[in-house]
Amino acid sequence: MTTKILIGAMFALILTSAGALAESRLSTTDRGQRIYQRNCLHCHGVTLDGKGPTAASLSVPPANFHTYLSRMKDDAELEKTIKQGKRFLGMHNWEDTLTDEQVHDLIAYIRSAAPSVKVKP
Ligand code: HEC
Repeated sequence: MTTKILIGAMFALILTSAGALAESRLSTTDRGQRIYQRNCLHCHGVTLDGKGPTAASLSVPPANFHTYLSRMKDDAELEKTIKQGKRFLGMHNWEDTLTDEQVHDLIAYIRSAAPSVKVKP
């Protein structure tokens, strides 16, 4: 009985570490995409156009990352919004839920799908 539980626990441990290993072997962009799909897609949409299934119920629509206005923001601005959220809007803060690395992965993914534009000063 105890042996069975022990074997079960060992299997669970092996499976979990295998999953974590697979995740760490992914590129930042791919990791970012997974995090996006789990947390952001339902608002910001499959194609990052701000038209996810939850978007319709919000009074202020989620950002469309393809717009010029969004693409001209630098990574630091996106990082700040992701971590701190936007007060009174649907965009909550992710500082306590996601690690710094996960936020950087997310930005890498957003940039790969909607590259930033450099604005001349
Ligand atoms: C409940 C819906 C919702 C979820 C979930 C959500 N967002 Fe948002 N997001 C918004 C809204 C609303 C805005 C504000 C749009 C505006 O200011 O016009 C926004 C704005 C942003 C902005 C600012 C973009 C810009 O151009 O200023 C970033 C970056 C962003 N979200 C990233 C994320 C990421 C990454 C996740 C997942 C970890 C996420 N959001 C999850 C609703 C959401």
